[in-house]
Amino acid sequence: MRGALRPLPVTTGTTPLSVVVLISGGGTNLQALIDTAPRRGFRIAGVISNRPAVKGLARAAAAGIATRVVDHTAHPDRAGFDAALAAAIDAFAPDLVVLAGFMRILTPAFVDRYRGRMINIHPSLLPAFQGLHTHRRALEAGVAEHGASVHFVTAELDGGPVIAQARVAVEADDDEDRLAARVLAREHVLLPQVVEWFALGRLAMRDGRVWFDGTAIAQPLPC
Ligand code: GAR
Repeated sequence: MRGALRPLPVTTGTTPLSVVVLISGGGTNLQALIDTAPRRGFRIAGVISNRPAVKGLARAAAAGIATRVVDHTAHPDRAGFDAALAAAIDAFAPDLVVLAGFMRILTPAFVDRYRGRMINIHPSLLPAFQGLHTHRRALEAGVAEHGASVHFVTAELDGGPVIAQARVAVEADDDEDRLAARVLAREHVLLPQVVEWFALGRLAMRDGRVWFDGTAIAQPLPC
């Protein structure tokens, strides 16, 4: 009789990239990362939220991932919060920090600490619509295309070099919710893809630019 089939190894023998994910809410992007991590060559070492009792924390716990809360309301100023957040991140010693719906503005000192190894997903085609309410503002502006971007985090809010974008056509009958849902579905593919590229060593930030496979890219990568 033949022996039982063994599962294929999920990596090629190298240690998978260790990732810490920062969230503030529902965590559907976190869920996309949880669901794809084994086949995309990374592992989620920990999930940190600045808000207690959000659904994203339950998603992490259900997947057996360590969770921490660093509550911004417990810190009188940004520097104190950022110091506590950095301590929580560093305890996991991650290779990459992923902001997935993390809704806090970070101090330049914090951003510098993770320069080149912290990425953020933002629901617009950056540099368009930095900040909040991106879907509403896209509809008000009457753009034909909207979407999502993943960028390296720099001190400039939503202003770091863009790695990749997913583009979504705006339909004539779109409202904010419909458009947001279509963009979010694309985010769930875009973010794991970028983390996989990072895990494969294909991505870097140098001289304020994105390098992919050893070349500085002129445009965000399509996804
Ligand atoms: C996502 O649409 C993400 O792009 C956005 O928050 C949402 C979080 O959803 N992030 C920002 O606006 C950051 N400026 P999720 O918690 O279900 O992943």
